[in-house]
Amino acid sequence: MTKKEVKEANGKLGVLVVGVGGAVASTFIAGTLIARKGMGVPVGSITQLATIRLGKRNENRFPKIKDVVPLADMNDLVFGGWDLFEEDVYQAAKHAEVLTNEDLDKVKDELSAIKPMKAVFDQEFVKRLHGTWVKSAPTKWDLVAQVRNDIQQFKKENNCDRVVMIWCGSTEVFTPLSKVHKTQAALESAMKENNPDIAPSMIYAYASVAEGVPYINGAPNLTVDMPAMWEFADKQQVPICGKDFKTGQTMLKTVLSPMLKTRMLGLSGWFSTNILGNRDGEVLDDPGSFKTKEESKLSVIDNILQPDLYPELYGNVYHKVRINYYPPRKDNKEGWDNIDLFGWLGYPMQLKVDFLCRDSILAAPLCLDLVLFTDLAQRAGMSGIQSWLSFYFKSPMHDSEHIAEHDLFIQYVKLKNTLRQMMGEETIDFID
Ligand SMILES: NC(=O)c1ccc[n+]([C@@H]2O[C@H](COP(=O)([O-])OP(=O)(O)OC[C@H]3O[C@@H](n4cnc5c(N)ncnc54)[C@H](O)[C@@H]3O)[C@@H](O)[C@H]2O)c1
Repeated sequence: MTKKEVKEANGKLGVLVVGVGGAVASTFIAGTLIARKGMGVPVGSITQLATIRLGKRNENRFPKIKDVVPLADMNDLVFGGWDLFEEDVYQAAKHAEVLTNEDLDKVKDELSAIKPMKAVFDQEFVKRLHGTWVKSAPTKWDLVAQVRNDIQQFKKENNCDRVVMIWCGSTEVFTPLSKVHKTQAALESAMKENNPDIAPSMIYAYASVAEGVPYINGAPNLTVDMPAMWEFADKQQVPICGKDFKTGQTMLKTVLSPMLKTRMLGLSGWFSTNILGNRDGEVLDDPGSFKTKEESKLSVIDNILQPDLYPELYGNVYHKVRINYYPPRKDNKEGWDNIDLFGWLGYPMQLKVDFLCRDSILAAPLCLDLVLFTDLAQRAGMSGIQSWLSFYFKSPMHDSEHIAEHDLFIQYVKLKNTLRQMMGEETIDFID
């Protein structure tokens, strides 16, 4: 296998976070700063903790990924971003109440120095939030120019060699794919005409790709999941990936569904419900934003179970997902799953899962990995949709010629095999 030409990770890597004052963003940033000071362990991060097997099992080569793949070092990351509210990231993280004051105070100066830039916002797309730190311009195309200017300024002021943009902003209302999203030319015209089908997230993403900056979509918003942006990203040679971080309940679904299928156990129903009390929960309480999330969460089971191939096992599955805003729980989401399955001769059984998780604690390591891996992809000359990063997403992006892979372990093999290929190592098929 020939080794891929990967440029070295020299200099600083700017990380521009949309929604930098949110729970996920502030937990990601604070945790990275704490970990790089050696004051905490970045648990959950593949780039920081995982090893990779190289060669045959009996060769006994299991280096850490970060020791053999030229990833940017955590110490070289510089953070910035945009939010609807002016408070700095230290204050925002305190309000999010995910990390303790004791933890936040370990990196208070660094967090206080991150002041959000004014956001691109449109109340029509997030009904429950009322932004006070928002850009204005005659057209959406003018807003693109402002975001491009923000990126250039940030890069210059922080002396960055490269920049990556990640969306940790709120879930926007469901935007169906329309003709303005089909080609780059149509998208640009629509921005100039202030077309209502252009969401704020699309303005950030367009600006990002125009500046040669990879874009990661952590929410289920349409944003870069459209032919217009695939075309633009290819032209600009920029990696893009999404949608919607796969953290709690959906991660479990993509582990349990393959288990049922491998054992040829049947499924008649899967009811998932959540209680969640953070700002994300409040936004998802709006039916428009919930619809976007619901679409993202529902696609998983069918894709894995292939009801067309197994009609007697999976041809009649009742799948329902609910998210309930319940303030007392704050960021500590509780996700229940009731799974109605059946076995030999169709005899019914039930499986119940109660995951008392912490939303942002699960999402933060994904942010770190995605930032480092998309930057790596760009240095390796990989552009457009990064399907090898499907591992991290509930609703992995794919073009019209491909089908998304949802099974967590197949996704993990794909991720690691892509890294092996980059290093000129043999891919692993688990036969030896
Ligand atoms: N935590 C998880 O496990 C998880 C999993 C998958 C996806 N997500 C998604 O990640 C996103 C962030 O989640 P969170 O819990 O941090 O939510 P949050 O409400 O705490 O943070 C979102 C932030 O985005 C800001 N924002 C909204 N629209 C913006 C815009 N147009 N420009 C700039 N800033 C904007 C808000 O002011 C807020 O500070 C949500 O879309 C959520 O659905 C989270």
